[in-house]
Amino acid sequence: MAGGAAFLASTAPWLSSCTPEKLAEVKKEKARVALIGSGSRGQYHIHNLMNIPHAELVAICDNYQVNLDAALTICPTAKGVKDYREVLSDPTIDGVIIATPLYNHASITLDAISAGKHVFCEKSMARTMDECLAVYNSYVNHNVALYYCMQRMYDEKYIKGIKQIKDGLIGDVVGMRCHWFRNADWRRPVPSPELERQINWRLYKEYSGGLMTELATHQLEVCNWAAGKIPTQVVGMGDIVYWKDGREVYDSVSLTYRYADGRKINYESLISNKYNGMEDQILGHNGTVDLTRGVYYLEEDNMIPGMRQLLDQIKTKAFASIPTAGPSWKPELKSDYVPHPLVSGGISVNAGQSMISADHDGSDEILSAFCQSCITGEKADDVVGEAYSSTMLCLLGNKAMEEGRMVEFPEEYKIPYMKF
Ligand SMILES: NC(=O)c1ccc[n+]([C@@H]2O[C@H](COP(=O)([O-])OP(=O)(O)OC[C@H]3O[C@@H](n4cnc5c(N)ncnc54)[C@H](O)[C@@H]3O)[C@@H](O)[C@H]2O)c1
Repeated sequence: MAGGAAFLASTAPWLSSCTPEKLAEVKKEKARVALIGSGSRGQYHIHNLMNIPHAELVAICDNYQVNLDAALTICPTAKGVKDYREVLSDPTIDGVIIATPLYNHASITLDAISAGKHVFCEKSMARTMDECLAVYNSYVNHNVALYYCMQRMYDEKYIKGIKQIKDGLIGDVVGMRCHWFRNADWRRPVPSPELERQINWRLYKEYSGGLMTELATHQLEVCNWAAGKIPTQVVGMGDIVYWKDGREVYDSVSLTYRYADGRKINYESLISNKYNGMEDQILGHNGTVDLTRGVYYLEEDNMIPGMRQLLDQIKTKAFASIPTAGPSWKPELKSDYVPHPLVSGGISVNAGQSMISADHDGSDEILSAFCQSCITGEKADDVVGEAYSSTMLCLLGNKAMEEGRMVEFPEEYKIPYMKF
């Protein structure tokens, strides 16, 4: 997939730390890693880790006994730990995988970096903009690898799609349209009421940025990856439309992000209707790439018969004057385009209900790359910059919705990585 240095530099620089040649060199060694946070996503990572030849999961840490026990059942050879500081003080552990709720991503990451551990943290980067900046600064000042689980960056269909976009497949990129629709309340069963906030952390603002930091973060990253830039402004509206069950985070959001050159990301997420599923569409003046489905569509494939006839008549100079209006014009309804695959062979398309169980969505590849970095010490280019940028945009989107106004990207949170 990697296919040369020029390709990596232009499309996915982060892959250069885990090329097949470099992997061949490390195969005999194993990264000794620990998992912190063994809930649903953490347990998914355990399954992936057990299939990575150059990884050894030596410890699992969770402060909730039920989830610790469940995780140790999957990997009984790992040591069970309740306090993550015990993991950080173990000199035999090379790196940690953090899959705790958003509100403590930053504090655990900062502690782990200070302890000299390589870190793989789940998205999003942090609950607040100040925490994002603190983590970013700590990362640039320490010689450890830091990954964020933005798995689309390691997903073959996304990589190939972005490469084709950068090669001009759809002409000029003129906009982006992303959405994620589900029909589920996001609630988890709680064995006793005092555990409500601990288990249903996603629903409360103290712990979670809601739909933005849980879902949009992946999609905004992809838009910036395609644009090679970061939006400067955002407006949006967020509401609790259907799941009025005591939650604090929106169940319905609609936002527009604007790049300095006028291009826009239109973003929408709703969790009480799933008709539209999940899509990451990059729109060009010659076509559209739908990265989620791993396909592209060309405008020329969908020329309505009247238009095709008109163009033929102009080209062949069939008449002295050509009528440009009349019964051949059809209403501009959305019509079927011919899908062209971005990758050969069967691809596994996530129906949008959950990232868990989505095979080959890049989660296993990015974890493998992290374990490789634990052995080589090599940082992955741009992963932190991408995670920082998309998390900041999510937090700014929440701010725009909460304050009911357009929000500009604040100067004090701009980092050298960002181009506007
Ligand atoms: N990349 C993706 O596609 C993807 C998919 C799902 C979830 N996630 C992310 O994974 C993270 C976890 O989500 P989840 O659904 O697994 O949540 P979860 O609630 O199921 O699991 C979180 C676990 O962390 C534990 N925990 C909390 N604080 C801790 C601490 N200080 N020390 C040790 N353990 C601690 C909890 O007890 C719990 O077991 C979130 O950041 C979420 O956004 C990412």
